[in-house]
Amino acid sequence: MSTGERLLTERKYETGIILLNRPEAMNAMDEGMLRELRDSVDEFEKDDEVRVILISGGKNFCAGADIKEMKGKTPEQAKAFALLGHSVFEKIENCLKPVIAAISGYALGGGCELALACDLRIAGENAKIGQPEVVLGLIPGFGGIQRLTRLVGVARAKELVLTGKIVDANEAEFIGLVNRVAPDRELMDQAEETARLVARQGPSAVRLAKKILNISSKLEDELITSDIEAFAKCFETEEHVEGINAFIEKRKPRFK
Ligand code: CAA
Repeated sequence: MSTGERLLTERKYETGIILLNRPEAMNAMDEGMLRELRDSVDEFEKDDEVRVILISGGKNFCAGADIKEMKGKTPEQAKAFALLGHSVFEKIENCLKPVIAAISGYALGGGCELALACDLRIAGENAKIGQPEVVLGLIPGFGGIQRLTRLVGVARAKELVLTGKIVDANEAEFIGLVNRVAPDRELMDQAEETARLVARQGPSAVRLAKKILNISSKLEDELITSDIEAFAKCFETEEHVEGINAFIEKRKPRFK
């Protein structure tokens, strides 16, 4: 087991386990956590003993980008943050080894986007998943719009992104947002069992299959650029100031 400031890592047989570890902030993702996540994925990718990576969050998977850290960012700083998030999630998506998300509790905003960048998603029955950025006067900034649309189709992606609606585990499974739902107490066992199942197969075949599966659903470069620009543009508005302040003051936003 190795301990970072914001996450823990452990190798269990052929599975490299990454546990997001900021429970006091529901694993909200700040820049430090994104960097630690990138480094841990990189380490497991290079570790010959590891064949599969599993990302989990303890009680809550991740409640999104750290809203308190985002407060006061200029559009340029927001752009840099989105670029960092995109680069980490692309690293996960293109990792030579399959990555599984074990989703317990909240997976919101950037947390949902993290799960979307993984190859497989297993949700505990108490999971609550969504892209509520519009509530903050923002949009998903780490590639979630494209990945969600690819996975659940345009109609359902529009419903989730435009309303900020949060779905439970069963609805997430019904719309194809997660592969499977497990009883909460069995979530990690089932996720580890799935990891072992992948790890038992021919490693080169698994690597090549992932590569080809990814080619068929690659994010468009042009859309990535528009995504990052649009996220940064939100930081020019009064709207995001009200949305972020409302969250911090624990009240509903009043948008004009
Ligand atoms: N950023 C920073 N802190 C967060 C956080 C976040 N995303 N989510 C939760 N927290 C913190 C809260 O501020 C609170 O801290 P304090 O005790 O210091 O006040 C602590 O975690 C517990 O949260 P709540 O008191 O709000 O707990 P709750 O049970 O009443 O509500 C919740 C849980 C519904 C997840 C609620 O916390 C929430 O709505 N969080 C924000 C979800 C969200 O909007 N995510 C999207 C972020 S924007 C984004 O991700 C942009 C992007 O794409 C890059």
